[in-house]
Amino acid sequence: MQVISTVSELRIRLGNERAIAFVPTMGNLHEGHLNLMRLARELGDCVAASIFVNPLQFGPSEDFDKYPRTLEADCAKLQGLADVVFAPSINEMYPAQQTVFVEPPPVANELCGATRPGHFRGMATVVLKLLNIVQPQVALFGKKDYQQLHIIRQMVAQLDLPVRIVGGETLRATDGLALSSRNQYLSDAERGEAIFLYQMLQGLRQNILQGERDFERLQQQAVEALIARGWLVDYVAVRNQSDLQRASPVQGGLAQRELVIMAAARLGNTRLLDNIEVCLID
Ligand code: PAF
Repeated sequence: MQVISTVSELRIRLGNERAIAFVPTMGNLHEGHLNLMRLARELGDCVAASIFVNPLQFGPSEDFDKYPRTLEADCAKLQGLADVVFAPSINEMYPAQQTVFVEPPPVANELCGATRPGHFRGMATVVLKLLNIVQPQVALFGKKDYQQLHIIRQMVAQLDLPVRIVGGETLRATDGLALSSRNQYLSDAERGEAIFLYQMLQGLRQNILQGERDFERLQQQAVEALIARGWLVDYVAVRNQSDLQRASPVQGGLAQRELVIMAAARLGNTRLLDNIEVCLID
């Protein structure tokens, strides 16, 4: 495995590769990332990962400075899984002030975008840069960041980028908590409580599968349940998988509907994100 920190060296290394499968990350790797790397191996001849904590996608009061940077440990985890790791400095990625950005679709201002203004613009900009630098045939992203995956798919489709985007299933701890680099910020007590987010999503999914279609009420009840247990809630939302627009209560016509229930909420200083897909016939 080669660890490369400059764009020019990376281009030389990848120049003759014909089937690159690429997993962009911000490092601090956990089993969820490693699972994406294993999936990448099935999809390409050369597996590349990037490790870059992208300042453009953090707001001024967010955890950019505190975000764990664990390059050595990350590279040890990637041994045997990746062929190439691209780990650029901020200066390498942004040698001049970045004044050109990807303007993401309007849904980027809702859900996570409502409390993280500019986040998806910074994320989409760095992902476009990374795709241009690595030029993979396939790029993989976790479904835990469902809105991120949606925006990347839209960017790739609408800007005609020659890459296939693959979403990897969310990996969970044995108690159900979605694996995330931010879980390590949780105190023991918070870690115990954190599983409630997924339990709540499972409960909503069950209600919908049993016929409940008043999504507004379900969302409201879920928010109240979280608040009662000490969570600070950003949103709980039932959306269409295809466009992330609000799911309408009644579809009619016995169509198959693919919905996703998404939630983001804070426990103490830690913001947790999760979602669950629901398929039903209405
Ligand atoms: O999901 C992440 O880790 C980041 O948002 C990404 C896609 C690597 C862009 O910085």
